[in-house]
Amino acid sequence: MEKLVVKGGKRLVGTVKTSGAKNAVLPIIAASIMGVTPSHFDEVPMLEDVRTISEILKGLGIKVKTSQNNILDIDSTVVDSYEPPCELMRNMRASFFIMGPLLARMGKARIYMPGGCAIGARPIDIHLKGFEALGVEIDQSEGLIEVSAPHGLKGTTIYFDFPSVGATENIMMAAALAEGVTILENAAEEPEIVALANYLNKMGAKIRGAGTDVIRIEGVKELHGADYTIIPDRIEAGTYMIAAAMTGGDVVVENVLPEHQKPLIAKLREAGATVIEDIDNVRVIGNCPLKAVSVKTLPYPGFPTDMQAQIMAMMVVAEGTSRVTETIFENRFMHVEELNRMGAKITTADRSATIEGPSKLVGCDVRATDLRAGAAMILAGLVAEGETRIGDLHHIDRGYEDIVEKLRNLGADIERVDV
Ligand code: EPZ
Repeated sequence: MEKLVVKGGKRLVGTVKTSGAKNAVLPIIAASIMGVTPSHFDEVPMLEDVRTISEILKGLGIKVKTSQNNILDIDSTVVDSYEPPCELMRNMRASFFIMGPLLARMGKARIYMPGGCAIGARPIDIHLKGFEALGVEIDQSEGLIEVSAPHGLKGTTIYFDFPSVGATENIMMAAALAEGVTILENAAEEPEIVALANYLNKMGAKIRGAGTDVIRIEGVKELHGADYTIIPDRIEAGTYMIAAAMTGGDVVVENVLPEHQKPLIAKLREAGATVIEDIDNVRVIGNCPLKAVSVKTLPYPGFPTDMQAQIMAMMVVAEGTSRVTETIFENRFMHVEELNRMGAKITTADRSATIEGPSKLVGCDVRATDLRAGAAMILAGLVAEGETRIGDLHHIDRGYEDIVEKLRNLGADIERVDV
C-alpha cells in the first residue's frame, strides 16, 4: 500500500504552476458527447477522475486519446450506446452528469445511481426535477435510472431549489439541444459553469448568463466539436496558497485567475499573510504566526466548500479561536478527527467546528478520508513535528496532479512510499 510521508518544518519557497481544473474538465468531457465532430482539449489535468470519465466515454463507443503535455482528443462522431459501464459509474459520482449529454444526443440514458460519498448522501433530486421539466420520462428501480425523451427535449423555465453545480451543468447541457428556450433560475454561478458554457458555445450552443443565477439557453439542432483550453484549478491553487501561508513561506502560484480566488485571498489577508495579485499569478508570503479567522462555506462567490478542510488545517496553527461552518455538505468534517490525532484542538457541533489555536502538531499515521481532507492532512504534515504518514492516497490522486513533485520543488520534505 502506498503512503505519503511528510517531514514537517520546511518553509515553502519558489514557484508552482496550477494544473487544469478537475471540476471544469469533467463536465466538459461529458459535454463532448454531444459533438458530432471531434474536440481537442489542452491543459487537461492527468487525474484519476479524468481517466475514469474517459473510460466511460470509451464504453459508449467514443474514441478518446490522451497525449503527453496534458492534451486530450475526443471523437464522438459515433456514439453507439446510451448505457455507460456500471462499475465505472460507481467509481465516480461526478460521472452522473453524462445523463444530460446522453439524453440530448441519444434521446435516452440508462445510468446507475451515483453512489454517495464520504462527504454526504449526494442526492440527485434537483437534477431529476430539471430533466422532468424538460419533458424527460424517468424510471428508477434498484439503483438504476432509465431516462428517455420520446418527444424530444422541450425548453422551459426551471427554478433550482438549491444552486446545485452538477444540476446546473447537467440541465444546461441537455437544454443546449432542446427545442425552444430554457431559462435556469437560482442557477449555480461557479467559474466551472462559465467554462462549460464557453465550451458549449464554441460547439454552436446559444447560452447566455452563465456565471449569474439566471442562465438562458436557446436550443439548437446540432453541436459540433471544438478546441478548448481548460481553466486553472482554483481549488488546487488555493491549496498551495494556504501551504505557503502556513509554513511562513514565499510562493508564487502561477496559472491562477485571481478573480476566482477572492474569498480565500480575503481570508489569507485577514489572517495576516501578504497576498500580491498579478494578471495570472498570486504570490503568498506567510507572516507567522497567523491570526485565527472564521469561515462559512457558501455557493460561489462565497467561500468554497472545497477549501474548507484546507483552511481548517491553517486555523489549527493560527493564534486564537476560529469557527468554520460548512453549509453545503452534511458530513464534511471527517478531517477533524485526523487533525485532532496530530494534536489539534477542534470541537464540532452540527455543521460548525471551533478551532483553538495555535496547536503544536506532531506527525503520526493519518488517513485521507476524502479528496480535500487528504489535502488538509498534507498541509498539517508540512508544519507538524516529525513524520506524518498519510494513507488512502486514491482520494488525493483524484484531484491533485503531481502534488508530491510540486511540493518537493517548493522545498517540502515529502515522498510517496510503498509500506
Ligand atoms: C460539485 O459537486 C463539485 N464536484 C464538488 O467538488 C463541490 O464540492 C460541489 O460542486 C459544490 O461546490 C464536481 O464539480 C465534479 P452540488 P456537486 O450539486 O455538483 C445537494 C471536490 O472536492 N444536492 O452543488 O455534486 C448536495 O447534496 C468535489 O472537487 C441536492 O440536495 O455539488 C450538496 O449538499 C467535492 N440534490 C449540495 O446540494 C441534488 O440533486 C451541493 O451539491 C444535487 C445536490
